[in-house]
Amino acid sequence: MPELYPDRDPSLIVEFLSAIGSDQPALELGAGTGRVALPLSRQSRRVVCVEISSGLADQLEQAGGDLDVHVLRADMAAYNTEERFGLIYAVRSSFFHIGTQDRQVEALRRARAHLAPGGRLVLDCFVPDLQLLQRGGEVTLNDSSDDAADLRACSVDTVTQRITYREIQLSGLAAPRVLPVEQRYCWPAELDVMARLAGLELEDRYGDFMHAPFTNASRQHVSVYRPVTSVDRS
Ligand SMILES: C[S@@+](CC[C@H](N)C(=O)[O-])C[C@H]1O[C@@H](n2cnc3c(N)ncnc32)[C@H](O)[C@@H]1O
Repeated sequence: MPELYPDRDPSLIVEFLSAIGSDQPALELGAGTGRVALPLSRQSRRVVCVEISSGLADQLEQAGGDLDVHVLRADMAAYNTEERFGLIYAVRSSFFHIGTQDRQVEALRRARAHLAPGGRLVLDCFVPDLQLLQRGGEVTLNDSSDDAADLRACSVDTVTQRITYREIQLSGLAAPRVLPVEQRYCWPAELDVMARLAGLELEDRYGDFMHAPFTNASRQHVSVYRPVTSVDRS
């Protein structure tokens, strides 16, 4: 099985994450083939990876070699380990792979329960594209060369907030490859309310991993949550 997103350089993500809870282990939700987890663990950090696909989990385990990387073959809304983490994170909108609002809240509760004191949850998610929601779907060309093309077809259901993607890789040399992906998107404000239900509160929100401000124009948000400390009795 090929590596996930081999062309997407994770160094800015790793730099951002390595500053959080760095004296404690980290947990990645939806780690894929370890694009982020492996370089993070190369910074002398233990990284535990939750990954639901056994094929990707096997690949990640092999690539981990001598690094302190441990793979949990589990659902990010249903894993359990005794270990506690200074950092729990999900990048590239992996959190949206959880298909319902209830299960997303459960994943946030689970993350809260696995945070060490002072730990933080970081979620990197896309901001829903209003025009795409209105159109109901689209086909886009991600990349192309003389003998290859990488297409993405998607359709949106605004009632369930679900997006169905088909990533279609065409190459003159190989059979077409179709990767099906389903996501349940939500707005940053909904995410904050779900996090509140799980005992987490927003600490910071950026527009990217370089700490750019989050603005009207941001297509992505990098949100940092901490355990709720104050009880509002008003
Ligand atoms: C967008 S990919 C991101 C992979 C990796 N984090 C990266 O940035 O390269 C999402 C990953 O989440 C995994 N995944 C999807 N649903 C999951 C679930 N419910 N629990 C755990 N992993 C899940 C997929 O198998 C996939 O590896």
